[in-house]
Amino acid sequence: MKKQVGIEALAIAVPRRYVDIEELARARGVDPAKYTAGLGAKEMAVADPGEDAVALAATAAARLLRTHAVDPAKLGMLVVGTETGVDHSKPVASHVQGLLKLPTSMRVYDAQHACYGGTAGLMAAVEWIASGAAAGRSALVVCSDIARYGLNTAGEPTQGGGAVALLVSEQPDLLAVDVGLNGSCSMDVYDFWRPIGRREAVVDGHYSIKCYTDALSGAYRNWRERALAHEVVRWGSTMPGEQLARILYHVPFCKMARKAHTQLRLCDIEDAPNAPPSTPEAREEKAKSSASYTAQVASSLDLNARVGNVYTASLYLALAGLLNTEGGALAGQRVGLLSYGSGCASEFYSGVVGDKAAKRMATTNVEAVMAKRERVSVEEYERIMRLPYEAPEPLSPEPGEFRLAEIRDHKRHYIQGA
Ligand code: CAA
Repeated sequence: MKKQVGIEALAIAVPRRYVDIEELARARGVDPAKYTAGLGAKEMAVADPGEDAVALAATAAARLLRTHAVDPAKLGMLVVGTETGVDHSKPVASHVQGLLKLPTSMRVYDAQHACYGGTAGLMAAVEWIASGAAAGRSALVVCSDIARYGLNTAGEPTQGGGAVALLVSEQPDLLAVDVGLNGSCSMDVYDFWRPIGRREAVVDGHYSIKCYTDALSGAYRNWRERALAHEVVRWGSTMPGEQLARILYHVPFCKMARKAHTQLRLCDIEDAPNAPPSTPEAREEKAKSSASYTAQVASSLDLNARVGNVYTASLYLALAGLLNTEGGALAGQRVGLLSYGSGCASEFYSGVVGDKAAKRMATTNVEAVMAKRERVSVEEYERIMRLPYEAPEPLSPEPGEFRLAEIRDHKRHYIQGA
C-alpha cells in the first residue's frame, strides 16, 4: 500500500485580547454591515508586543506536543512559516526550538513567502516524509503571524494574529495529503508587501483580490489536470470542484473565501467539455451559487471570522475550524485547500480527512483556547496598537504560554507561564 503522509494533529494559539468588529466599525463611522456582511468579520484578535510571532508559534507548538503527547525525539524537522519574523537573520524556528528544548538533531528553518510560507513549509515536510528521507521521523510545521495594517486604514478591519502548529507524519489522522497532485501558480506582482523596517503592511487592496483570484485559477487548473489524470475527479454530471466535499481557502477576510469559491467554480464552468452557459453573465451567475458556497465553504470559516487574518496560518485556522465542527462527518472524504501568498504564489492541493479527525480535534479543544480570550474596547485596542515594538508590557503569560519579556543587547528574551 502507498505510504500515507499528512497532518496527524494540530493546535492553535491566539492573542489574549480581541475587539468586536461592529464596535470598531461604529468607532470609525462606518456602517457595521460593511465589516460583517461586506467583509464577513465578527471579531478581530489584538496582539500586543509581548505576543510576537515567536511567542505565538512557541505557544501553539508547545500546546500541540503537550496535548497530543508527542515525543520530541521523534521529530526531525521544524519549519516556521511566517511573514512577521523578528530578525533578518535568526529564524523564528530557532527560537521555538530553544524554547521547547527540542533535539539538536533536527533540520530547523523559516519559510517566507507572504501568506504562502506555511504551505511551503508543510509541503517540504510532506515530501521529505513521502520521499523516505525522514526515515520514520515526523515534522513540526508552525504557521505564525500578526496581520497589521494600522489604525484608520482600509485594511484595519482585516487585521488579526495567531499561530497554528501542525504535526506532519505517516499517521495522518487529520488529513492525508494527495502527494503529487498539487498545482502551483506564481507571478511577480506588487499587491501586498512590507518593506524592511516597516511594522505595517502596504497593500493595493482591490488589486490584491484580483492577484489572489488570478493565481487561484492557475493553481486550481494545474491541480485539476493532475487530479483528472489520476481519476480523483472527473467531468460528469457534477464539475470536478463539486466533487470535493469541502474547499478551504486562504482567508484574509471571510468574504474573500466566497469570492475565491466563485472563481474556482468559474474555472470549471468555463472549461467544461459540455456546452457551458453562453454569456459571461450567465457563467458568473452559475459560479456565484450560494448553495455551493454554503455546502462546500461556509462551515470552515467560524474561527477565521473570530480571529481575523493570520496570514500564513489563516488556511490552517480554516482547517482547524472545519475539522472542529465536521471532522467526524467528513472522515474518508476528500477536501481541497488553496493557499495564497502575495507577491505572489499560490498552491491548490487535496487530501482525505482521517478517521480519527474528530477524536484528535476533541483533544485539541480549540474552543477552550478561544474561550480564554478577553474582549477589549476600541480605546484599549488603539492603546495596544500604539505600544512600542521593543517594549512589551510586563504581563504574566498564562500557564504553558510564552511571551516576549524584553529585548536586551538586541537579544529577545521569552518567558513561559508556570
Ligand atoms: N453593507 C454591506 N456591505 C457593504 C457595505 C454595507 N453598508 N458597504 C460596503 N459593503 C461591501 C462592499 O460591497 C464590498 O463587498 P464586495 O467586495 O462583495 O463588493 C465589501 O463590503 C468591502 O467594501 P469595499 O471594497 O468598498 O472596502 P474597502 O475598499 O474599504 O476595503 C479591502 C476592502 C480592499 C479588502 C481592504 O479591507 C483591504 O485592503 N484589506 C487588506 C488586503 C487583503 O486582505 N487582500 C486580500 C487578497 S491578498 C491576500 O489574501 C494576502 C493577505 O493575506 C493580505
